[in-house]
Amino acid sequence: MSQKSSDNGASLSQNGTSAYTFTKEQLAEIEVLKTKYPEVQAVTLPVLWMAQDTFGHVDPEVQRLVAYTLDLPESHVHGVAEFYTQYFKTPKGKHVLDVCTCLSCHLCGGMDTLGYLENKLGIKAGETTPDGQFTLQEAECLGACGYAPMMQITNDVYVNHLTPEKVDQVLDQLASGDTPDFESIPMPLVSTTSNNEAAGGSDE
Ligand code: FES
Repeated sequence: MSQKSSDNGASLSQNGTSAYTFTKEQLAEIEVLKTKYPEVQAVTLPVLWMAQDTFGHVDPEVQRLVAYTLDLPESHVHGVAEFYTQYFKTPKGKHVLDVCTCLSCHLCGGMDTLGYLENKLGIKAGETTPDGQFTLQEAECLGACGYAPMMQITNDVYVNHLTPEKVDQVLDQLASGDTPDFESIPMPLVSTTSNNEAAGGSDE
């Protein structure tokens, strides 16, 4: 399905039903992206990111805009958006707190952390505070099991080894406009001592 552009360069879906539009600059950026991949389907991911950065979410109407812009079936864009939890299918708060409650985090107090945040924010997992500041979500494993319990903030920084004190500190930082420090995870998680050294021998 083709696109048409209004005088100010905003892109409208052919049937004009989309409430969202990309700017002229964004459409130009999308054209550049298309040249970097062998198939236009692959551009779905970065264009969904662009849309989420612009509109704050990729609800069905935004997905429709992406589909029309890339001339792809809406079902394809919908499938990609639904597959990745990092794409917000509904409007979220300014800060999205993804608390991992998968096995390792669960065993290390992930549910306690989630409960603490629910009490502190006065909402349940899946809800947004009335002031629109925080959305609280329960997340599947985020790949930082060795640093449990942990949470990710708005698809960005990881905060590891959570305690109530640390949660308080993070909420204060976010409320005052600061971004908590990213807590990097050293990889790989293997011993630097060789088997031979561990056995008391020499590597030479
Ligand atoms: S179980 Fe929480 S990061 Fe893997």
